[in-house]
Amino acid sequence: MRSALKRILKEYHSDDMNFSQRWVVVTGASSGLGKAIATGLAAKHQANLILVARRLDKLDALKQQLESTHGIKCESIAADLSDLTQIDMLFQKSIENRDIYAVILNAGITYFGEHQQLPWQQFQQLLTTNVTGIVKAVEHYLPYLQVKQQSGGIMLVSSVAGLLPVPYQAAYSGSKAFITHYGLGLNEELRYDDCSLTVFSPGGIATEMTHSSGLDAQFEGSAVLQSPEQCAAEAIQAMKTRHALYVPGWINKFQVFGARLLPRSLLVFFAGNLYRKALAAKVKQEASH
Ligand SMILES: NC(=O)c1ccc[n+]([C@@H]2O[C@H](COP(=O)([O-])OP(=O)(O)OC[C@H]3O[C@@H](n4cnc5c(N)ncnc54)[C@H](OP(=O)(O)O)[C@@H]3O)[C@@H](O)[C@H]2O)c1
Repeated sequence: MRSALKRILKEYHSDDMNFSQRWVVVTGASSGLGKAIATGLAAKHQANLILVARRLDKLDALKQQLESTHGIKCESIAADLSDLTQIDMLFQKSIENRDIYAVILNAGITYFGEHQQLPWQQFQQLLTTNVTGIVKAVEHYLPYLQVKQQSGGIMLVSSVAGLLPVPYQAAYSGSKAFITHYGLGLNEELRYDDCSLTVFSPGGIATEMTHSSGLDAQFEGSAVLQSPEQCAAEAIQAMKTRHALYVPGWINKFQVFGARLLPRSLLVFFAGNLYRKALAAKVKQEASH
């Protein structure tokens, strides 16, 4: 009875991950959370890194900085992860002449506004980047990591928006709900496996995404937005200790816990009011330019 309970309660692997001198793929490493995760892995864990995004100039600048400051090895790979053939290319290129130990699928995009204003093509791009591309990448890397038997792992960057419905980010919220459930389902399937899968679900972070979508209009300077560095430190720790699901920051933890106690309709109503104000501020700002 005791051992059965232990098995249910434990996050399945007992050994922590060890990134030192091992190769870690980080997607979306050209800015925001991905860049901060890559920097944290190099600075505090001496990991070698495959940096992935579309903007090669930004990846190369980060590569140079991390190699010269922390003495680790880095490679930049330019890939558009909304194109599934480029995910095949990324996989092949990343495993050439090296063993990959961990994969952090962080790249993602949002759309902030009325869902009916979201053009179909943009919706499809969001879906491929945030959902289909992630599944495709997992289909490449998971069997690879299992065969390697080095106790590696995968982390999927989801969002609090995948745990709670978010009006005016309906498609994004839906895409992250998929990732959260998909990741948690897979995590359990991997309970007795060699490698782990972590779902990391941040709330607001002060990044390009928050700024360019206009979402920061409401929250600028408040404690609601985590810094990318703080969020990244929690992401690395969550993956290292092989959490199934991790929500960083006490405000986000409190929000997710509180959401379990309140009716969902009330939460969506409050979120709707909050985001309507942010959207109005965005529209006003765009009109003044
Ligand atoms: N910011 C938040 O408040 C927040 C909250 C919860 C969860 N998250 C999640 O955290 C992750 C990182 O977001 P962030 O806030 O750091 O945003 P960000 O600063 O905009 O970074 C997004 C990264 O994804 C890359 N990317 C986007 N589309 C891509 C594509 N088609 N192919 C390859 N790379 C692509 C971008 O690189 P290129 O443009 O160079 O390709 C960039 O490096 C996302 O999954 C996001 O959903 C963010």
